[in-house]
Amino acid sequence: MNPLHWPAEAIWQAVAPRIPDFTVEILPELDSTNSELMRRAREGHLEPTLLVAQRQTAGRGRLGRDWQSEGTQEERQAPATPAPALSALTFSLGLPLSVADWSGLSLAVGVCVARNLHPDVQLKWPNDVWLGGRKLAGILIETASFDHVRYAVIGVGVNLLPRPASGLRTPPAWLTEVLPWMDAPQTLLRLAAPLVQTVKRFEQQGFAPFVADFNALDALHSQEVSLSDGTQGMARGVDETGALLVHTSDGVKKITSSEVSVRPLNPPTT
Ligand code: BTN
Repeated sequence: MNPLHWPAEAIWQAVAPRIPDFTVEILPELDSTNSELMRRAREGHLEPTLLVAQRQTAGRGRLGRDWQSEGTQEERQAPATPAPALSALTFSLGLPLSVADWSGLSLAVGVCVARNLHPDVQLKWPNDVWLGGRKLAGILIETASFDHVRYAVIGVGVNLLPRPASGLRTPPAWLTEVLPWMDAPQTLLRLAAPLVQTVKRFEQQGFAPFVADFNALDALHSQEVSLSDGTQGMARGVDETGALLVHTSDGVKKITSSEVSVRPLNPPTT
């Protein structure tokens, strides 16, 4: 098996001028990159860290769900791709953040991920990353306070290779559908430094600078949607707090809780 060549040095070079104590770490296996960074934080390690796992054994998703990325855990060695291809890129960025209003951080991260992957990529509120109406990537943000320092872990999982749809609420998409040569290290290189930049911008300016971009990428914009709380209406993008605006027969409803799930009434046929 050929080793994967991760661009840790290039990422560090891009980020370190802005965050001098930043480190990049690539590990062969972890339960979950989010869980590992939170464990380290509880032990007092709050340094800004980008942690990549080549394989996660207990990846976590939003709302207590699993994030399964080992659909094709065996290494694939196609003649055109000499390095073993991972079926997904899974990583987390952990860092102390001083943020007045956290609402919208996951949407801002979604904008960053979508913008840096491919022009066909869209977002589904609050932070699913879609390709052709299917789920390409997911984002899980967790925060905790340690000695008055708020520590944030921003986890990102991107499907790279075909994976079975069984057991998934939304059928999967994978990046090599639109970028056939793309692998995990190159995907990380596209995302890592822009992600740090996005998070630092959010820390300074909040969600406002990301609203227009989110609305331009919004897969549900101007579509009839159905919410898990029973509401139906027309999705009209997000406001400056990241709330989803749904025009219903009773007026505009602002959806703030990510516990409410949103579905297009007429999902695209795949
Ligand atoms: C979701 O769509 O429900 C969010 C999925 C987030 C998955 C990523 S993979 C890297 C990081 N570690 C985890 O355990 N989860 C996130």
